[in-house]
Amino acid sequence: MAAEVFHAERVESRERRVPPQPSDGNPKGSLPPPGSSSPPPRGTRGRLVLQNINKSFPGSNVPALKDVTVVAEPGEFLVLVGPSGCGKSTLLNVAAGMLKADSGTVEIDGQRVTQPGPDRAVVFQDHGLFPWLNAAANIEFGLKMKGMSKSERQDRVADALKMVHLSNAGHKLVHELSGGMRQRVAIARSLVLDPACLLMDEPFAALDAQTRTLLHAQLQELWLNTKKMVLFVTHSVGEAVRLADRVIILHSYPGRVRRELKINLQHPRDFDGPELTELGHIVRKEIEDEVNRVNVHLANDFWSPEKAAHLDPGARSVGDGL
Ligand SMILES: Nc1ncnc2c1ncn2[C@@H]1O[C@H](COP(=O)(O)OP(=O)(O)OP(=O)(O)O)[C@@H](O)[C@H]1O
Ligand SMILES: [Mg+2]
Repeated sequence: MAAEVFHAERVESRERRVPPQPSDGNPKGSLPPPGSSSPPPRGTRGRLVLQNINKSFPGSNVPALKDVTVVAEPGEFLVLVGPSGCGKSTLLNVAAGMLKADSGTVEIDGQRVTQPGPDRAVVFQDHGLFPWLNAAANIEFGLKMKGMSKSERQDRVADALKMVHLSNAGHKLVHELSGGMRQRVAIARSLVLDPACLLMDEPFAALDAQTRTLLHAQLQELWLNTKKMVLFVTHSVGEAVRLADRVIILHSYPGRVRRELKINLQHPRDFDGPELTELGHIVRKEIEDEVNRVNVHLANDFWSPEKAAHLDPGARSVGDGL
């Protein structure tokens, strides 16, 4: 299915549109200098092809995924959204090789996926850090397993901590870190192994709104820096439009692709800008329609909120003193 492209025409004057981006094959990349007008070229790894995926679970007569095809390109930030139970995690777990599809194929950079592998790092809502190790040792763990020398491990861990702005927190134990810091360590632990892509399942869902916003900005920076393909699952519409190059809205019962939306807005984005508000409305409406469709299907119930009252523009007391 061809993705719809959101052309924010009036955005042109204030935000740069993404020009075609050549690949340089540089897996690490570097942050663009402040004010730089040309975005970094994209990496060449991380092409993920999920082809005609079907998956049913015992006890349910409706498939969790029905003939789902999704292709993510190297360097793309692809977000899957949809109501609870529509199959987002199932699709991500199939991509990770943690769950076997009943039929269909998964490939990463042309290689068939049959099990989890170091080319696909997964970050969940639960950080999964070892509580008896400090932040640096958690990040180092995978490198040790690979048999890397101590000096190289130390360099890599220092780089990874720097990438997530935790250079001064490497000595801290997990319980000494805030929720947001733990998620940043979990991301650093994944990135230090230089995977082809990051698969993220609601990694910020348990965080407060301010910390989430900080992590959105930092993830955006990291993504620009590393050019990794990111497949990101969320139910948060705001999160989706802030981060995505492309949003896939899933249909539920059975899970399949309902709609795709390309977001041609340059990163880093102004999270408070009117373009994201407008895009958020489009995605939210689509999800509301999907939730209502499911309610009608499952419970023969259709609900829509009463129209909100309009404020009298002359009501000067509203917001006084702000
Ligand atoms: N291990 C399992 N056994 C049985 N049914 C499952 C299993 N995992 C998922 N399902 C079912 O498959 C469907 C899709 O579940 P999935 O967890 O992928 O949804 P989701 O979109 O990630 O939901 P949420 O937003 O709540 O995380 C749901 O109906 C769910 O109940
Ligand atoms: Mg889920």
